[in-house]
Amino acid sequence: MFLNGMPKRMLIGGNWVKAASSKTFESINPATGETLAAIAEGDSEDIDRAVVAARRAFNGPWSRFRPADRQQLLLRIADLVEYHFDELAMLDTLDMGAPITRTRMGKSRVVGMLRYYAGLATALHGETIENSLPMDIFSYTLKEPVGVVGAIIPWNGPVGASVWKIGPVLASGCTMILKPAEEASLTPLRLGELLLEAGMPEGVVNIVTGFGDTAGAALAAHRDVDKIAVTGSTETGRKIVEASVGNLKRLSLELGGKSANIIFADADLDVAVPGAAMAVFANSGQICSAGSRLFVERSIYQEFVERVAAFSNQLRVGDGTDVETQIGPIVSAQQLDRVTGYLEIGKREGVRTVSGGSRLTSQEFGKGYFVPPTVFADVRDDMRVAKEEIFGPVLAAFPFDTIEEVIERANATAFGLGSGVWTRDVGKAHRVAKEMRTGSVWVNCYQAMDPAVPFGGVKQSGYGRESGRQHLDEYLSVKSVWIQTG
Ligand code: NAI
Ligand code: MG
Repeated sequence: MFLNGMPKRMLIGGNWVKAASSKTFESINPATGETLAAIAEGDSEDIDRAVVAARRAFNGPWSRFRPADRQQLLLRIADLVEYHFDELAMLDTLDMGAPITRTRMGKSRVVGMLRYYAGLATALHGETIENSLPMDIFSYTLKEPVGVVGAIIPWNGPVGASVWKIGPVLASGCTMILKPAEEASLTPLRLGELLLEAGMPEGVVNIVTGFGDTAGAALAAHRDVDKIAVTGSTETGRKIVEASVGNLKRLSLELGGKSANIIFADADLDVAVPGAAMAVFANSGQICSAGSRLFVERSIYQEFVERVAAFSNQLRVGDGTDVETQIGPIVSAQQLDRVTGYLEIGKREGVRTVSGGSRLTSQEFGKGYFVPPTVFADVRDDMRVAKEEIFGPVLAAFPFDTIEEVIERANATAFGLGSGVWTRDVGKAHRVAKEMRTGSVWVNCYQAMDPAVPFGGVKQSGYGRESGRQHLDEYLSVKSVWIQTG
């Protein structure tokens, strides 16, 4: 089966190859601490090989694929991903812990993304532009693929993150080297098999598994890579910007967040309570746009926080392969340390723990990396748990008095990915939506996503947009052509 074979190898130039060093590393199931598979440990030599393959493909037969050919390829990939989705969802669950109900639910979005990019493949066009020159010169633009793309993805949703980069690469006519996160490489590798099965020419998508500071860094610095698209932490984003200067690569950065979720007293609280809880506890808080700062209007603050805690206490924590599980483990021992470190920091800073607060260590949980949904109340804006991205199931709650005050406090962060507002007053909703310095604002919902609607950040949450028509422009260059006709 897949788990016993391919993982020791990576995809370069259409072939499944070992790392040049022959080294491997282990992929761990975070629910049990058990080893799932050995993964090829790629490094700079493998990145070099993959870039050569990607460049050859870019200049070769792939460049002669018509838009409709690229569309057909994407549609065949979509069909295969749809057909095999249960397996892909199970690989995500085993490798990074998310509940199987959640990973299966991603099907329509992931398959929908591939079909959306298939549509965009035949919708690319430049413009004819009227100029004001005194002589007869005709001017128009062409949109051309930027070239070889390095895509660096995180572990918090491997199948979705992979497709979010593969889709625009194939639609635009670029080629790529995909560097999965070391914590969760299995699904991207299985996707690689499906890409070949769909008829993808060799070298168009290469997959190099390995660590961030070796394989990832080599990709970010490589002189023959034209663009890096990364999703990950702000710290990694900064390193990639620095590594990119050698050849002034294009970049798109989807980075961290500390998103505010604002609850007004006039909101429908029966909807807002589960909404606010799942905005941060879904995927155990391991979502870039998690609503991890909860601002509640003072008149309902105590009651609302208690209700969020009560809702959170009845969420089923457990092994993601169990269909009853709502909250899975934290992805790795390292992330577990990070999250429990923040639980201690919060307590030292003087927060009031309303639910959760420490790692689960009893029999069924002991071997895995489980942290229950944790609600910290009476948090001050200057505490570390209020300012830093925890990336775990930890909610920081604050009371507020006025709309002006909450807008200012919600925006007083280095990040700008998402924000939420819950109210029945449409005027308030519009005002907050306009004032938030974030890439997305959700009103009376949270985390809604669609392939046609752009997603991305401002400030230190990065730049560039994924999804939507803008996404393809991130993978295209504009060429202006002038033709003397007189
Ligand atoms: P990370 O940012 O180190 O990993 C994301 C990807 O970047 C992985 O594929 C990794 O191998 C790669 N990478 C790491 N260092 C690199 C480098 N120097 N050059 C090129 N690529 C590099 O995130 P990590 O360590 O897994 O998690 C740490 C924290 O980052 C989390 O606690 C969370 O706060 C944040 N994070 C945020 C994500 C988001 O979607 N906003 C996703 C993952 C992590
Ligand atoms: Mg793993």
